[in-house]
Order: sequence, then structure tokens, then C-alpha cells
Amino acid sequence: MINKCLFPAAGYGTRFLPVTKATPKEMLPILTKPLIQYGVEEALSAGITTMAIVTGRGKRAIEDHFDISYELEHQIKGTSKEHYLDEIRSLIDKCTFSYTRQQEMNGLGHAILTGETLIGDEPFAVILADDLCYSNDDAVLVQMVKIYEKYQCCVVAIEEIDIEQSDKYGIIDGKLVDDSRDIYRVSHMVEKPSPTEAPTNMAIIGRYILTPEIFDVLRVTKAGRGGEIQITDALNSLAKEGKVIAYQFKGKRFDCGSVDGYMKATNYFYTMYKEEK
Ligand code: UTP
Repeated sequence: MINKCLFPAAGYGTRFLPVTKATPKEMLPILTKPLIQYGVEEALSAGITTMAIVTGRGKRAIEDHFDISYELEHQIKGTSKEHYLDEIRSLIDKCTFSYTRQQEMNGLGHAILTGETLIGDEPFAVILADDLCYSNDDAVLVQMVKIYEKYQCCVVAIEEIDIEQSDKYGIIDGKLVDDSRDIYRVSHMVEKPSPTEAPTNMAIIGRYILTPEIFDVLRVTKAGRGGEIQITDALNSLAKEGKVIAYQFKGKRFDCGSVDGYMKATNYFYTMYKEEK
């Protein structure tokens, strides 16, 4: 069983400056909901109710979002506007939220290691809220939990990318397992290779299921690309022992950490919203 989901949310979001100067990137809205709320809803749909969030300086709005606002509740109670709070209230009721701070931005691997105190010694999911996923059917994390239940090892979600984009992602190499067309046993992975160095065009997106063994590996992982501790490097150590599965998920992914991806997501969700009306 996967009971906890870690949200590394300490990054500076420099590509969205100046808005991210005082507003966490994870609080940028797609229609009326912030990115991180979509992530929490996805985790909840996978049966996970314990949300563990790695924050940093300037990220207090995330904590406030997942808390009751007494003043607001008091103001709109009994009015025609009360229903606007229904969705977030029900989410807060169903989940618990705990937080820890990453004091220095030493990379995603370091952020995940910082979250150990909230996770402990059990397998857990990781969602990067700036990768917004959408599926008509099972949410991506629901699909991944099923893969984890079968293979009982680390699972990373992948998608095929244009090879020219390889230096923006962790890239995997591996072999298809069983008779599947979408599940790979990873042999090797590399962080942000140039297109000529990339072993394949299969890129890791912001969804992981990790076993607690990853913390021991991260503790001894040296700084890699960009001088930061990379989760890809730590997972590569486990991949060499055959302990990482890559899963080509079904659904759509929007890179909301970039302006282009963010606009695409906004347009996509707005079109759906209009059609539902
Ligand atoms: P990104 O590199 O996409 O986020 O990290 P960023 O650094 O905030 O964005 P830019 O490049 O400056 O625009 C992927 C995810 O990992 C988290 C980020 O918050 C984001 O969700 N992260 C990254 C951390 O929590 N800590 C880090 O040290 C690095």
C-alpha cells in the first residue's frame, strides 16, 4: 500500500518571475485551482490521504491554502457564495498535510531526502505539481500504484519526447518487460543529456513511486548536473540492480513550469470547462 505522497515544492520557479517572487509556483492557478491542488486530488484518487510537502522560504501560501480560513468562512457562511469553498473544504477534510523546509535549493534529490522525516520507512509517491497530468480514465498515479503493486520496486512515469528536448529531462534506457508495450525494466538513466548523448527519447516526468531505500542512496549521491543532488543519479544506482521500472502512462502531461506548457494547460482545462457547462 502507498499511504503517503511527497510534494517537493521548494524550487524558486525562476521561469515564472516576477510572479514567483512572492507567490509559490505551485500556487499558480489553472482556472480556479492552484497547481498543487490538482496534485493533491490526483494523490487522493490513488487512495493516498497523507500529503507531505517540502517547502522553502516564501511558500507559506501553500500551508494557508490547505487550512481553514475562519474569516472567509464567517463572511460567506449562509450566502450564495458558500458553495465556492465546497471542493477545497472536502479535500482538507479527507487529507492530512505536513510540511518540512528545504533550507538550500540543492536539487530534487536533496528535496526528496529532506522529506524523509515526513515519510519514514515506507514506499511513497512523489508528485511534482508543476507537471500537471490529466487522464479521462484512471489518474496517472492510480495507474502507477497498480504497477508498483505488481513489481514492488521504484516506478517512474515516462513519456516519449522530441529528442531535441532531452537536455530538459532525466532519460531512461531499458527493456520492455513481459508482453507489455508500456512497462520497461530500466537499465540506465541519465540526467539532462544532450540529444547526441541521450540513450533514448523516453523522458521521466514528475511522477514517481519510490521505496525507502532511496533515502540511503540519496545520502551518498554526489552532486551531479548543475551542482545539484539529482534523483535521476540516485535512481540510476538502483536501476543497475534491476530495481526501477519505467511506465509509459496513459493521459496528458503539461509542463506548467514553463510558460508554454502553462498556457497549453490553461487552454485545455478551459475548453473542458466550457464543454461541461
Ligand atoms: P524545477 O527545476 O522544475 O523547478 O524542479 P524550479 O527550480 O522551481 O524551476 P525554475 O527552473 O527555477 O523555473 C522540479 C520540481 O522540484 C522542486 C521544484 O519545486 C519543482 O516542483 N525542487 C527543485 C525542489 O523542491 N527543490 C530543489 O532544490 C529543486
